[in-house]
Amino acid sequence: MSSDYPAYAPSEEHELLRRTVRELAETKIAPHAAEVDDQARFPQEALDALVAGDLHAVHIPEAYGGNGADALATVIVIEEVARACASSSLIPAVNKLGTVPVLLSGGEDLKRRYLAPVARGEAMFSYALSEPDAGSDAAGMKTRAVRDGDHWVLNGTKMWITNAGVSEYYTVMAVTDPGEGARGISAFVVEKSDPGVSFGAKERKLGIKGSPTRQVILEDVRIPADRIIGAEGTGFKTALATLDHTRITIAAQALGIAQGALDYAIGYVKERKQFGKPVSDFQGVQFMLADMAMRLEGARQLTYHAAIKSERAFHGEEIPDLTFVSSACKCLASDVAMDVTTDAVQLLGGYGYTQDFPVERMMRDAKICQIYEGTNQIQRVVMARQILR
Ligand code: CAA
Ligand code: FAD
Repeated sequence: MSSDYPAYAPSEEHELLRRTVRELAETKIAPHAAEVDDQARFPQEALDALVAGDLHAVHIPEAYGGNGADALATVIVIEEVARACASSSLIPAVNKLGTVPVLLSGGEDLKRRYLAPVARGEAMFSYALSEPDAGSDAAGMKTRAVRDGDHWVLNGTKMWITNAGVSEYYTVMAVTDPGEGARGISAFVVEKSDPGVSFGAKERKLGIKGSPTRQVILEDVRIPADRIIGAEGTGFKTALATLDHTRITIAAQALGIAQGALDYAIGYVKERKQFGKPVSDFQGVQFMLADMAMRLEGARQLTYHAAIKSERAFHGEEIPDLTFVSSACKCLASDVAMDVTTDAVQLLGGYGYTQDFPVERMMRDAKICQIYEGTNQIQRVVMARQILR
């Protein structure tokens, strides 16, 4: 029986990558995770370590100076970083989110200009779709881009932008033809240094506190016409096609957070004694652990499966259910992460509820995975549309 099963399973190279990232994450990133959360500060140590290890944007193709790592390798990097520090995992995840629109729809010149600095670790790239009044209904955006000779002039406010202020580059979706709804939206590359770009205050959040979330405010931002990504009017499609690839990276983040919480809980229950024995001897505790591990592995398999499909789609293959599996793995993995981290807090008892142990942070961090890159209600909308097509 011949098959491409090897494409489905992580290869030796993927496993080697996992070991490398795990070691880096445990030695260079995990030691700062609690402080990054407590002080709500950017995890600069993580960025430095990821850049030094060439792990900050592994997905960028070799042609643009990157590693050309496949989607499964990218998932493994994000998963292993998130196992140590969810905030830090948004460095590779958002570098992918910001650059995929350029990779999918940008011209050769745009790719060469903007991907190489990201590959070199000199710049980060954010993605600006959401607005104060347009979150789930992203096509309801108000940000405008108006053509003026050889330039576009952008005005509007993008909300909730991850790594805003830290990133040099932004994929910004804006309305170019107001009468056309989703078909009247275009995508642009905006630079942090473009006159008229400013940032709102950092949002004060429940979790992922080390990842800055800010408004990107555009006031008469005048950019050269060649900064448009793809043809005029195709920006919304590019934005959604991007999410087909990157919701998988949020699933990866959720898996990593959940794995971190499960690993910690396993160590704890073996040590903690009550009624004269380790609490891991109680079947009630064992069944909780078994359920946590089972659901996590199920979500992981779906995520890896989706990553392989994403990779094949990037190489031009028609993958009709990519939208479905991408939404499904993000939705499942984030729901599992919320359950697993909540159970991990439970397994540590009162200690789990304190900041002296990492599981309460992991539980707070897990929550965002059910909200961003489309809430899990929206993932169900997307999946249902695919099923009923
Ligand atoms: N790929 C390409 N094109 C697609 C597509 C896809 N997956 N899905 C839809 N389209 C096209 C449609 O074909 C349609 O084009 P035509 O009119 O030419 O046929 C166009 O896009 C509009 O599609 P819909 O009518 O389906 O759009 P809608 O307005 O009903 O919205 C939605 C669909 C699924 C609700 C979408 O708005 C959505 O996903 N909302 C959630 C927003 C979101 O996920 N935001 C994430 C922000 S990033 C983030 O959060 C960052 C972070 O985590 C760090
Ligand atoms: P709303 O759309 O107002 O939703 C409110 C509630 O209504 C939710 O429960 C939602 O599920 C529900 N709802 C809405 N419509 C439906 C429907 N049709 N059916 C059923 N239920 C529905 N965006 C970016 O563009 N770039 C980023 O980098 C980015 N990073 C983020 C980082 C953080 C920390 C956060 C919190 C958000 C980020 N976002 C980013 C925005 C994120 O994608 C949106 O918050 C999300 O899509 C939801 O939009 P909203 O907050 O406006 O909620």
